[in-house]
Amino acid sequence: MVTFNIPQEIERFFEFTEKSDFEKKILDCGAGGSKPNIAVFSERGYEAHGVEISDTQIERAQKYAEENNLDYKIIKADIRELPYEDESFSFAYSYNTIEHLTKAGTKKAVKEMLRVLKKGGLLYINFQSTDSAFIKEGKDIGDNEMLDISQAGKYGFEDTFHSFYNNDEADELFTGLKLLHKGITSFDYIHNDKQCQSITIDYIVQKE
Ligand SMILES: C[S@@+](CC[C@H](N)C(=O)[O-])C[C@H]1O[C@@H](n2cnc3c(N)ncnc32)[C@H](O)[C@@H]1O
Repeated sequence: MVTFNIPQEIERFFEFTEKSDFEKKILDCGAGGSKPNIAVFSERGYEAHGVEISDTQIERAQKYAEENNLDYKIIKADIRELPYEDESFSFAYSYNTIEHLTKAGTKKAVKEMLRVLKKGGLLYINFQSTDSAFIKEGKDIGDNEMLDISQAGKYGFEDTFHSFYNNDEADELFTGLKLLHKGITSFDYIHNDKQCQSITIDYIVQKE
C-alpha cells in the first residue's frame, strides 16, 4: 500500500484513466520526491515512467520504490524536452511541478507532454493560482514569475521559480483539446512559521 496521503487530484485523474480503454502506460513529469505520486499508478498496475531534473529528488523516489517493493523508473530529463517518441503514452500528468517553470517554459513543457501523448490520451496538469497565499517570496522576474533563492537546495537546485496564473490564463494552452475537468484545489500549510495556502487550478484534458 502507498504509505502517504494520495492527493485528491491524483485520485480524480486515476478515475478518468481507469475509464479509458487505452493500455495502462503513464508518464509523470516532475516525478521525484519522497512521496512520489508515480507510486500510486505503479502499485495499481500501470507501466509507470517518470522524468525528473533533480538527482536528489530521483534518489528519494527510487528509495521509496525499493522500500515499498514498487517497479517504476524515473529518468533524469527536463520536461521541456522529453526524451520519448511522439504518442508513446496513454496518460501523462504533472503535479505541483509546472509552477517551477517560467511561463515560456510552461508552454514548452505542455507542448512536449501533448506530443508524447497518444491521440485520445489523457493529461492532468495543475497551475499555482495568483489567489494563493503561497510563498510569493523572491524577485518578480516577469509576469507573476518569482525567482526565490530562499528555497535554494530544496530540490538540488541553486534557485527555484514560482509562476502564478490567473483563473483563465492557462486555458489557451489547451486550445483544440477536449476539456474534461477544470477545478480549484486548496491546501493549507505552514512555511517559515507563516500560515500559507496553496490554491491550484487543475485541468484534465483529452488529446483529440
Ligand atoms: C514540488 S515538487 C513535486 C514533486 C512531485 N510531483 C510531487 O507531487 O510530490 C516539483 C518537482 O519538479 C521537479 N522539476 C522542476 N523543474 C523541472 C523540469 N524542468 N524538468 C523536470 N523536473 C522538474 C523538481 O525537481 C521537483 O522534484
